[in-house]
This record gives sequence, C-alpha cells and structure tokens, in this order.
Amino acid sequence: MSSQPLRDFILQDRPAAAAPWTAISLFSGAGLSDLGYEMAGFQFLVQVEMDQRRAAIGSDNFPSSTWLVRDVRVSHDEIAAAYCRSTSRRLDLLMATPPCQGMSSSNPSRGKRQTPQAKALEEKNRLMLEVIPLAQLLEPRIIVVENVRQILTLNVEYDGAEGQVVDLLRDRLQDYEVFPNVVNVADYGIPQVRRRALIVAVHKDETCPESMLSRNPTPLPRPTHAEQSNNGVLPWVSIREWLEAMEYEPLDARSKDDARGTHPLHFVPAYGPDRYQQVSEIPAHSGRSAYDNDTCPSCGRQQVDTSLILCPACGVVMRNRPYVERNGRPALIRGFHSSYRRMNPVRPAYTITTNSSHVGSDFKIHPWENRVLSILECADLQTVPRFYDWTRAKEGRTLYLIRNLVGEAFPTYFTYLHGRALSDLLSSSASPTRAPSPLLH
Ligand SMILES: C[S@@+](CC[C@H](N)C(=O)[O-])C[C@H]1O[C@@H](n2cnc3c(N)ncnc32)[C@H](O)[C@@H]1O
Repeated sequence: MSSQPLRDFILQDRPAAAAPWTAISLFSGAGLSDLGYEMAGFQFLVQVEMDQRRAAIGSDNFPSSTWLVRDVRVSHDEIAAAYCRSTSRRLDLLMATPPCQGMSSSNPSRGKRQTPQAKALEEKNRLMLEVIPLAQLLEPRIIVVENVRQILTLNVEYDGAEGQVVDLLRDRLQDYEVFPNVVNVADYGIPQVRRRALIVAVHKDETCPESMLSRNPTPLPRPTHAEQSNNGVLPWVSIREWLEAMEYEPLDARSKDDARGTHPLHFVPAYGPDRYQQVSEIPAHSGRSAYDNDTCPSCGRQQVDTSLILCPACGVVMRNRPYVERNGRPALIRGFHSSYRRMNPVRPAYTITTNSSHVGSDFKIHPWENRVLSILECADLQTVPRFYDWTRAKEGRTLYLIRNLVGEAFPTYFTYLHGRALSDLLSSSASPTRAPSPLLH
C-alpha cells in the first residue's frame, strides 16, 4: 500500500532526539512544520511566535528551545542574541513560515491612496523578507521560506525597493544562491493537494550550490508520487484509500452522540434537520454537492432544476439544498462549485484549511459519511505525528485552536523529508566553521 510509510510516520512513538544541526524558526505557530525538521536532525534553539496560546502549545513540544512571544519585525537583535546564548555554533537553518498573504494586494493601486486593508495585506506580504535582517546577523548556512505559491509572482516593497520576493532576496542576500520552488505535497505520498512556494537559499560558503547549479537539481526531496503513475513513481494517494487505511471510527452528524468517537480529537459538529438532510442526501462516493440534490423532500418530485429553492410541483422549500431565509423568504445560499460538496473519493483531499469544519467551504464533506472531517482526520492529513502533545489545548477547552493550527501548518511529513534532504546537503558540504553571529561580536 503506497500510504504505508506515511501511516507509520504518523503513528510512530516520539523518536529519540538526534540533532546534528541547529535551527531557528520564525512565525512558528505551534511548531508543526518545525517538528518534521527536528525529526530529520535539526534542533530548534529559538522559535518566534506572536500569539501566546500558539507559542505555549509549541513550547510544550519543544521544551529545550527558547520560545519568544514576539513580533518578528521588531525582534531581530533579540532573536539573534537568544540564539547566541544557546550555542557558539554557526546557525545551520533559518526557517520562516509567515501567514499566507493577500492575493489582491499585488501592488494595489500604485500611486493612489491605499485602503487600510490593502496596506495590511502589503504588510503581510513583506513578512517573508523578515529573514533578511536575521540572515545578515547570523549568516545561516541554509534559509527556507514557505508560503502560498502566488507569493512568487507578487510585487512587494521592502526597505525602499520594490520587486518580487525572490529578486529582493537575491538582491539583499548576495552571499546566497536562492532556489525558488513550488511543491505539491501530494507528490510525496500525502493524500492532500497542497501547493506551496518553498524558497531555499544556500550560503555560497557551502561547496554544494555550485555543483547543484551545474546539475540543476533543487535542494528538495525527490517526489515519490504523481497524479498519473509513471516510471516507478506511484499514483497520488486518494482520500478513500487513506481513510480506509486509517480505520477511523464512523461518525454521523445526525446527533451529538453519533458525532463523537472515542478519541478526544475525533468528533464533528452535529447538525439540525435541514443541514443534515442537505449533507445526507448527497450520494456517498459521488463527489457531488448539496446544490445537486434534486428530489423534492416534500412531494418526491425528481429532477428539480438546480436553480430553484421552491419545488415547482408542491411549492415547498427544497430543504435538502443550502438555503437561507431573507426577509422571510427562502433563497439558495450563493456558493461556488466546490461549496457544500463531498470530497472526491478517488483524488487526494483538497487543501486542509483553518475552516475545515465549515460544511459550506471547499470540498469539506466526508466522501461517504454524513459529516465533515474530524480534527484527528485533518491533523493526520496534515501528517502531524500522533505523539504531538495537544494537552494544553484540550485542557484549556480551546480545541478549535487545534483546527486552526492544523490548517495553517506546512505538513510535518514533508518537512521531515525536506529536512533529510537538507541534512544530506549540509553533511556533504565543506563549509567553513565560524562563530554564529559575526555582527554580534
Ligand atoms: C502559517 S502560521 C505558521 C505555521 C507553522 N509553520 C506550523 O506549521 O505550525 C503563521 C504564524 O505566524 C504568526 N505571526 C503572524 N505575524 C507574526 C509576526 N509579525 N511575528 C511573529 N509571529 C507572527 C501567526 O500567529 C501564526 O501562528
């Protein structure tokens, strides 16, 4: 079964720490992506996260790291100093996973007055470049920045210059070879389509960039899966294969009792009668949407036109379609092709997001059961090992925060594979050893 390595990864016990390399992460969340790099041999000495609750959960899982609850933008010196207090070694990996930027802000209304919203989005877009001052202070051997792939073509302003993120990084970090990539985690056996920009910058001190450039490989793990299998590459893992392999307890949103399993993170929202009917009437394994439900629940009239909310035969509301009452009158909720839709069983899951419990959002309904996915199922699809400690969120009654953290993460299994590739690269490179922070001495 092609999902077996991933299943083993998620269900393993916490491995003993073997950490030949040092790392700092910025915008760490609760460290779900850092965990993969740690499992591949990177010891995080400093992690920086502005949100206290996220940092507290992260700190439970990285007890020997210094967690700074800070705004990265105003803490560069403090971050570098915290690193230097932890070790006299040169930094191996600087990792940054800033929040996803706003697509609409690609150079919004240049020359015109910007709205506060556009300014806030621009501010977000610049967060990726927060690695620059830290790289100048600490000269890490490798820098990795992850974000949505659109970031590669967005224009941003930084320190008096304007340009695409990769060009600005190349301009400000002239000691680095910068490799921009787009990865899809489905290509690594993860049953989820999630495409992300992954920019890897390797210090020119390393002997590897030159040989990498001449052979043109990028510092990434080799894909093991593809949409269509070919030449020994396996086909993507479908959501059906995955859910069956993981043997989850069945859940059903018809009542609170049926919506809860025995694992504390395996539960889903229960629905009232209308919402339940909308979901349960979508045929199992069909990948169809509640808007396609075309049999009138009142009179049984079939093939009711999908644009209608009242049955043309009996005049009663088609309660099995998503609708709202507006001014006392029912109306179909406006949705996209992907809204109120079951996941397509023969494909990987659509990108797991922070709103994974919203039935009306993209492809959120279980392929054959009448419900959305549980937190446990989403965490597994984001490949968070089960040994990750969520106690603080469970005891603090902030389980919703786990859904957010899981939806924001860059999958741990991918970062583990990437960490192994980076570890090989560092091992094979003869880099001059030097003090961690030339500018701080
Ligand atoms: C995409 S999430 C990181 C996810 C993380 N890599 C993981 O896998 O769990 C981005 C994080 O950056 C934090 N953040 C946003 N702006 C920040 C800032 N200016 N300084 C520090 N943290 C910030 C957010 O609170 C959020 O937790």
